[in-house]
Amino acid sequence: TSEIARMKNISLIQLGEYQVEPWYFSPYPESITNLPVIYICEFCLCYYASIKQMDRHRKKCTLFHPPGNEIYRQDELSFFEVDGRKQKTYCRNLCLLSKCFLDHKTLYYDVDPFLFYILTKNDEYGFHIIGYFSKEKESSENYNLACILTLPQHQRGGYGRLLIQFSYELTKIEGKCGSPEKPLSDLGLLSYRTYWAEKLVELLHDFKGNLSIEEISKMTAFTHQDILHALFTIDALKYYNGQHAIIFNEAAVATFQRNQKKKRRVINPDAINWTPPQ
Ligand code: COA
Ligand code: NA
Repeated sequence: TSEIARMKNISLIQLGEYQVEPWYFSPYPESITNLPVIYICEFCLCYYASIKQMDRHRKKCTLFHPPGNEIYRQDELSFFEVDGRKQKTYCRNLCLLSKCFLDHKTLYYDVDPFLFYILTKNDEYGFHIIGYFSKEKESSENYNLACILTLPQHQRGGYGRLLIQFSYELTKIEGKCGSPEKPLSDLGLLSYRTYWAEKLVELLHDFKGNLSIEEISKMTAFTHQDILHALFTIDALKYYNGQHAIIFNEAAVATFQRNQKKKRRVINPDAINWTPPQ
């Protein structure tokens, strides 16, 4: 039965103005999953069986942003911090929605131990969810991110990068280094590898002198292991005379220069208004 239980069970989700096709099983109630379309309120993430129910809900729903503190705003993007203990329904609904796009993660019904960082795009109608990441309030393993999702309609637009960057900016503010929870999905690993490699090439390009792994870790909040892994995957880690040396090949530098030309959104750390929760 576990095989059956894992089968994709939802045909289509209507979320705000978008229709999205789930990738994987998500444990929404069966009364809902039998329907051709399920309707999800893009602000509170509550789910409904019909457009009629949805319309009725929209007349009553007073939320137009995630139910937490806005801890970042720059241009038309914001981050909200939502506490799983204080906003159980919202966070459970978020987990249900994100399970549609996550194969391997166990779904956390117990959202209390997590904080959720929701990335929104803002217009006159409200703060529309683009994606999020979750983070354990206490991680014994130094994980600074548990789950990450860009909603499919917004993928490949650079938002995954923003979510990852934001997670590291928070870790820098905490004065720590951190790493995403393992195992990562294929897409998660791909995004992190790209992110680490780009950041390291950028850092070492801007910083002309020699940098130790320890110094790089202090500047990026990446763990030593992730730094070594990333350098290894772009073949930049050389080992001689009993020491590591970082030497970029032409391909890595060319990629870096190409990326410099792309106009990419980045997080402005000065626009983060956050102190680590006690
Ligand atoms: N194919 C190839 N490369 C990909 C990729 C894909 N489908 N998705 C991401 N990448 C790599 C690329 O190098 C990309 O940079 P580029 O577009 O400049 O080439 C880089 O990752 C960052 O992409 P970005 O647009 O910032 O990421 P995203 O907004 O699409 O989000 C995830 C990335 C992982 C958050 C998203 O794919 C997702 O939500 N997946 C489902 C949930 C999941 O698996 N989460 C991780 C496990 S917890
Ligand atoms: Na979606």
